Amino acid sequence: MIIAIDGPAASGKGTLARKLAAHYRLPHLDTGLLYRGTASAMAAAGKPLDDAQAAATLARALDPATLDEAALRGRPMGEAASVVAAHPQVRAALLDLQRAFAARPGGAVLDGRDIGTVICPDADVKLFVTASAEERALRRTRELVGRGEDADPAAILEDIRRRDERDSGRSAAPLVRAADAVLLDTTALDVERSFEAALAIVEAARRRA
Ligand code: DC
Repeated sequence: MIIAIDGPAASGKGTLARKLAAHYRLPHLDTGLLYRGTASAMAAAGKPLDDAQAAATLARALDPATLDEAALRGRPMGEAASVVAAHPQVRAALLDLQRAFAARPGGAVLDGRDIGTVICPDADVKLFVTASAEERALRRTRELVGRGEDADPAAILEDIRRRDERDSGRSAAPLVRAADAVLLDTTALDVERSFEAALAIVEAARRRA
């Protein structure tokens, strides 16, 4: 079973993907990390983010096993990832790796922005997870404060809106709900309720298959 999960920044899609993967004992790929890893490699190589060719070369050389999630998680890297992710060459460079992951025997859970539309258009289940920008900013703020980091709620909201605009407005594989994706709005749901709702969507799809 392939479960494709898409949605905007801080919508809760990563948490749901991890929980669904654990529940069904499937491998999980957080595809945002690939773009974050590419952005980080660009910074390490001293390349400007608009150098699409250099970004594609570094994306192709990426080894997902060596990506340090904790180091790539921060806000600046999310912003830089969103910039390199708009280059079609970078998306093409990361395509085979993602499709190969999805083709593992038994299936997989992938989360990102274009999983249901481009990477796995034939996924068994597609979820489009969203929440209001205000709620997503609140969650990010709480997460940062919980880690003892500084958090400016207004700046975080602005950041989320900018990222939404860039990810949805780009011409290469924009963030858009696939026609056959089920919408899950988690604005008023906590993690447990969101998971229950996601599970119900997956189970309904399994019954139909
Ligand atoms: O999910 P995330 O916040 O870790 O993703 C970081 C950026 O990477 C996001 O703003 C857009 C880009 N991205 C993408 O374009 N396509 C994906 N499948 C995953 C992430």
